[in-house]
Amino acid sequence: MEGKLEIRLGTRSVLGTAKSERHPESGGEGWRSAVPRAISKKPRDHSSKQHFDVQTKLGASGVNMGTTFEHRPVLLNECLELLQARPGATVLDGTLGGGGHACAFLEQTSPDGILIGLDVDEDALAAAEKTLSHFGTRIKLVRSSFRQLDSALRNVGIDKVDMILLDLGVSSWQIDSPARGFRFASESAEEAPLDMRMDQRQSTTVADLLRDSSAEDLQSWFSRYGELPGSKKLARAIVERRRDTPFLYAQDLLDLIDDLRIGKGRKHNPATLVFQALRIALNDEMGALEEGLAKAIDHLNPGGRLGVISYHSLEDRITKNVIRDAVKGCVCPPRIPVCICGQLPRLTKVTRRTVVPSKDEMSINPRARSARLRVAERLPEAV
Ligand SMILES: C[S@@+](CC[C@H](N)C(=O)[O-])C[C@H]1O[C@@H](n2cnc3c(N)ncnc32)[C@H](O)[C@@H]1O
Repeated sequence: MEGKLEIRLGTRSVLGTAKSERHPESGGEGWRSAVPRAISKKPRDHSSKQHFDVQTKLGASGVNMGTTFEHRPVLLNECLELLQARPGATVLDGTLGGGGHACAFLEQTSPDGILIGLDVDEDALAAAEKTLSHFGTRIKLVRSSFRQLDSALRNVGIDKVDMILLDLGVSSWQIDSPARGFRFASESAEEAPLDMRMDQRQSTTVADLLRDSSAEDLQSWFSRYGELPGSKKLARAIVERRRDTPFLYAQDLLDLIDDLRIGKGRKHNPATLVFQALRIALNDEMGALEEGLAKAIDHLNPGGRLGVISYHSLEDRITKNVIRDAVKGCVCPPRIPVCICGQLPRLTKVTRRTVVPSKDEMSINPRARSARLRVAERLPEAV
């Protein structure tokens, strides 16, 4: 499907075209038990003089975008350090959000580093544009999925960059905006539409998925993306109930989950798992990640670094596997004694395991608790 790709250079706005598709995100309860709880990194010295503490610069409550957009960048210092943010570097932030990470990268790459910021959410871009406006022509904001980062880069006339960050969760602002439908807190559930589109240009909402999808598809999403006990029961009950009553508001779905007593007494609220699964499916979050990662590797300079912050075990598994394959290079079956594919390693690992937020960060920002960061470095092309 052809869609608009909107480019903002400093204060100017230019329109181009690019493929558009469905996309993603949020997080919290998606870690499969098989995924190790973490973490190899030794505790960081947060008192270091060179240590860039944006938390302090931006205030204890995170990034406040005027009166509405507030998002605290997760694993910020770890990202700056592990991605080697330095003066003059070119950075691609594939999930700009409110611009929290972007702001820190722009500070660290001053005076002349460039930041290309992508997001599919119009509100996020508008907030980030305002917050980052004082960086002038050093910022290039594009309304695009990171899935199409190749065309986004082409549109701003840049081919290769020194670092790429994908911070995959939904922003706090998206979760806290009832009209976007990412939140189903009981006090607002009667009025919260079943929407959950990351990209407001997309026409299909979660309400549409619940109206049109087969029981098999619904079951597979609940099971794969939510690990929901009782996925089949819920999928069938949705198909049954929608014959009489459409699912339009969060409360409609909450009532059904309650009636079926699915996942009662489990550690995770079953509604969280159901909403998460529908959000991931609607925005094709896993598909976007796989495509985006492949393109990210193509567009890194030798020595350039890629960082991915995941909030769900499936996101982390995709990231881990893409990095593992690029580190290995050769794709020949193990039974073949000599490599015939000729594929060389393209990445080397910077983090052997995932990096998780410190206890301090988790206590200040509980939404960071499920974050996992992996970083890898681009190897030079073989000559
Ligand atoms: C966790 S927030 C990023 C927050 C940001 N790092 C900050 O510090 O403010 C994730 C953002 O990614 C955006 N997003 C999700 N999927 C995307 C995709 N495929 N392409 C581009 N942006 C995406 C969401 O709209 C959201 O604004």
